[in-house]
Amino acid sequence: MAVTELAPLRPTGPPGIASTTAAAEIDLAAFRSNLAAIKQRIGACDLMVVVKAEGYGHGMLPCAWEARAAGARWLCVATPAEALALREAGDTGRVLAWLYGADEDLTPLVAADVDVSAQSTQQLSRLVAGAASAGRRARVHLKIDTGLSRNGAAMRDWPELCAAAAEAVRAGAVEVIGVWSHFAAADEPGHPSVPIQLAAFQRAYEQARAAGLEPVLRHLGNSAAALVVPEARFDLVRVGIAAYGIDPAPGIAALAGVQLRPVMTLRAQLANVKQIEPGAGVSYGWTWRAHERTVVGLVPLGYADGIPRHASDVGYVGWRGAQVSIRGRICMDQFVVELGPDADAAVGDEVILFGPGDEGEPTAEDWARWCGTIGYEIVTRLGVRVPRQYVGGSGGSSPRTDTVRGASPSAG
Ligand SMILES: Cc1ncc(COP(=O)(O)O)c(C=O)c1O
Repeated sequence: MAVTELAPLRPTGPPGIASTTAAAEIDLAAFRSNLAAIKQRIGACDLMVVVKAEGYGHGMLPCAWEARAAGARWLCVATPAEALALREAGDTGRVLAWLYGADEDLTPLVAADVDVSAQSTQQLSRLVAGAASAGRRARVHLKIDTGLSRNGAAMRDWPELCAAAAEAVRAGAVEVIGVWSHFAAADEPGHPSVPIQLAAFQRAYEQARAAGLEPVLRHLGNSAAALVVPEARFDLVRVGIAAYGIDPAPGIAALAGVQLRPVMTLRAQLANVKQIEPGAGVSYGWTWRAHERTVVGLVPLGYADGIPRHASDVGYVGWRGAQVSIRGRICMDQFVVELGPDADAAVGDEVILFGPGDEGEPTAEDWARWCGTIGYEIVTRLGVRVPRQYVGGSGGSSPRTDTVRGASPSAG
């Protein structure tokens, strides 16, 4: 089921609104090296690369392509639309989709050979109907709720779901490929939920077998579990955030002895530079005032682009290797940084909002800490005005990336 060639990418954001003064550089070589490091850590266990939510903001198709090129047999998305977008782009490998509505017609997914999760007898019936109209067996992963209380069948409903699945297998409508679940706190070493969920998962798997099912895949682990909960690896782990070079939680990658490199670097060019006088208030509400004559620069990105307003007056960005503080409130399209009393700055100077930290810039995880959130949110929330520029792609027949969200042509 290897991908041979992907069709050229279509723009995924509204056309013509890409910023000309800011861009997120996506380092596909770093992505591949993270995948290699994770693979080494998980050994014989198979790797499913999670590319939902536009590849955590990095661009779903380029990341999917690189994951396949790096040997990933499995990709994971949330929604049917995401799975079908992969298929439309030419991907023919194994894909799992798991989040859909009560009235969703699953025929297109079955027809496109997408693996689909079912967490209830209702969902299973929809899948059986999809199989009938697609004229082929549906590939299903039965989801058990082992303690997250999000999706997945409740333990009390599991025997009924397994029995219905066994019936659907006998009728030739479905093939039960996997039994799966999701952790609540694998990123907190020693958390009591981990052994509880592991035991529940094992029980659910045994019940599925007792119902006559023969799922070949058991998968429970996310990035954190893949890295630091070896007993949760089973046959497959679903890895998202670590592939993008962000620690699932501070210290997890280090605990695993795995080096991750952030894949995304967000850069912008200063749109204004000026000297302000002592006492001058900066940005809405004058939450910060200059205590001396100083030079400020205007960064042309704001909360509409995903820059969190919670970082107002808190964070910093990188400028010429220095760390320059965010002053005043982050606005919808822009914010101000203080460059210093004697700064010799110019309009057009580059600032780095976040990246791997090589040039003194903060990381996405730093922004997360400032804002009381997680690195996941910092990268996934980047808006459609921020073009993604791809570098370090594996080349060959890799797709053109210059049309992704208006990204300008790049070295990829
Ligand atoms: C069901 C499921 N599996 C796997 C993942 C990947 O998690 P992580 O990014 O922590 O690896 C997610 C992410 O939200 C998820 O919802």
